[in-house]
Amino acid sequence: MSARVTVPELGRMKREGRRIVCVTAYDYTFARLFERAGVDILLVGDSLGMVILGYETTLPVTLEQMIYHTQAVVRGASRALVVSDMPFGVCHGPGPVVMDAAVRIMKESGCQAIKLEGGARVADTIRFLADHHIPVMAHVGLTPQSVHAFGGFKVQGRGNAAASQVLEDAVAVEQAGAFAVILEGIPSPLAAAVTQRLTIPTIGIGAGPECDGQVLVGYDLLGMFDGIKPRFVKHYLDGSAAITTAVTRFAQEVREGVFPGPEHGFNP
Ligand code: KIV
Repeated sequence: MSARVTVPELGRMKREGRRIVCVTAYDYTFARLFERAGVDILLVGDSLGMVILGYETTLPVTLEQMIYHTQAVVRGASRALVVSDMPFGVCHGPGPVVMDAAVRIMKESGCQAIKLEGGARVADTIRFLADHHIPVMAHVGLTPQSVHAFGGFKVQGRGNAAASQVLEDAVAVEQAGAFAVILEGIPSPLAAAVTQRLTIPTIGIGAGPECDGQVLVGYDLLGMFDGIKPRFVKHYLDGSAAITTAVTRFAQEVREGVFPGPEHGFNP
C-alpha cells in the first residue's frame, strides 16, 4: 500500500509538473473505487447536497451531513488525501464558530484538510485556520454557495474587471496560507494566468487545461445524470444507462422467476 498523499506532496507535484487528480466522493464504496483508480484527492464536496440529497443548490447542506459523509469516505481511503467542504453559512470570519466547525469535521471524520469557498473576503478566516495548522483548500471563481449572489451558476471572471477580481482572490487565499485553490467556472486563459502566478497548486473545474490539476464531481464523470451535461463535464461511463439496464434485468428476472437460481440458494 503506498503512503498517503500529503499537503506538502501536492506542492511538490506542482513544482515537478505532475498533474493532480481530484474526484468528489460521498461514501465508502465510491471512495474505495476512486482510490483504487489512483486519484490523489477525494473531495467530500457540499455538492452532495445536489447529487446525493437532491437539493437544487448546495446551500441547505449542514455540518452534520458533511461530517457523516466525510466519515464514510475516510473509511474507504487509505492513500488519497481527504478534503471536506465547509458548508454554507458557517464561515462568517475568523473566530470560535469556524474553528469549532473545522475541528469537528477533522476530529469526527479523520479527514486531512477542509475546503472553504471564497477569495479575499475569506482570507482572514483561511489565515486563522492555517495559523492553527488546519490545512485549507480555497475555492474561487464560480463558488456554488454564491449562486444567488451571482444570479445562477454562471461563469465568473469574464471581462477585465471580473478577471482581476478572480486573480486578486486567488492571490489573497495563497497569501493567507491556503495549500491549494479550486478554480471553478472561469475562462481558460484566466485560469492559466492564475496558475502561473501562484506557487500553490490550482485545481480546475470548468477552468481549462492549464491548471495544476483537475476535479470532477464523481457522479458527473460516471455519467449518472442523463440529460444534464454541463460543457465542462466529460462522461467516462454511461452510468445512468448501465445502472438502469442492470436493475431492469434484475426486475425482469424476479418477475419471471429466473432470479434467484438454484446456485443462489442454501442447502438444508
Ligand atoms: O462541492 C463540490 O463538489 C465542489 C467541487 C465541484 C469543486 O466544490
